[in-house]
Amino acid sequence: MAHLFEALKIREVTFRNRIAVSPMCQYSSNSEGYANDWHLVHLASRAVGGAGLVFTEAAAVEPRGRITPQDLGIWSDTHIESLAKIVTLIQSFGAVPGIQLAHAGRKASVAKPSKGGKALDESQEGWRPVFSSSAIAFNKDSPVPTPLTREGIQEVINAFTQAAQRSLQAGFKVVEIHAAHGYLLHQFLSPLANQRQDDYGGSYANRTRLLKEIVEKVRAVWPEKYPLWVRISATDWIDKGWDIEQSVTLSKELKALGVDVIDCSSGGIIPGINVPVKPGYQSQFAERIRREVDILTGAVGLITSPEHADQIIRSGVADIVLLGRELLRNPYWPHVAAKKLGQEKVWPVQYDRAWL
Ligand code: FNR
Repeated sequence: MAHLFEALKIREVTFRNRIAVSPMCQYSSNSEGYANDWHLVHLASRAVGGAGLVFTEAAAVEPRGRITPQDLGIWSDTHIESLAKIVTLIQSFGAVPGIQLAHAGRKASVAKPSKGGKALDESQEGWRPVFSSSAIAFNKDSPVPTPLTREGIQEVINAFTQAAQRSLQAGFKVVEIHAAHGYLLHQFLSPLANQRQDDYGGSYANRTRLLKEIVEKVRAVWPEKYPLWVRISATDWIDKGWDIEQSVTLSKELKALGVDVIDCSSGGIIPGINVPVKPGYQSQFAERIRREVDILTGAVGLITSPEHADQIIRSGVADIVLLGRELLRNPYWPHVAAKKLGQEKVWPVQYDRAWL
């Protein structure tokens, strides 16, 4: 029976434990998407902290796909160098470096949370147009997005593919495609945002087409030996939206296309939804997809106690737990968890005295 500190091998990559740093925007780049000392220290600390996998925040595959002007980017070869430095450090501290590739779609061009999170127009460092599947704004303050044309869709597919190639050049060992939280790819999946009448809208097959085309192209350039993850919102938490049944079907198709892990999050497609938030509230989706699809899954969402995280792995709910805010509060959480669960210490010798 696997437990939280059992190593996991996916393809040719071995994770020292089942704890991953969930992707978390830092809103700390300059306006050109470069990683800097903040990203370096923040991510390397969590590798020193003992996580098995350290994901960067969502990295924008094109400038118009940034959520805020301060998002991390990977739309140009010039982004590779500063990311490569981070990769080297994460690896030198024993963790696997992963990158999340993202496009914000109609949720692009807003202020960072510490500046209020409101839509920014061109006079405020923002940009227009923002794109989506259909011309439906996210909320009353957001701009009405421009529906992507066929050419625009091809550009997005190319942007994800090139971003995966750059991720490889930077040295990342895991790529995660962000198809959750109401961002562009989720805006194609969910009928609440996608009202297209062409090959990319309407039926389930059409709404899932863009994500599957991206996965196919990314898998073709991402080496066989490295894992490919997809983060989904397993449900929109509302009738007539995207739901767990479609997530199960999609996961089967993604598995056939070479996806290794489904990272099971939820929500984000429209504002004002009542989500029954409580510890582990999204783990049920990881469990069901794992059981019905026979694919590795990641559980995320209010997992904070070592016992809870261990139970998720031991009982076969998921293969990996991703922690967000708890790892912001305490980068050394994996060490604390190891001690609490009676495992051998996992932190560096320099910190041995902290173990006493
Ligand atoms: C996030 N989250 C997030 N998710 C994602 O897929 N890409 C991202 O870039 C971000 N950015 C982000 C920033 C910050 C500051 C937070 C707190 C969260 C969501 C995150 O990965 C995770 O899914 C949720 O926070 C739920 O997990 P926790 O925090 O309850 O462990």
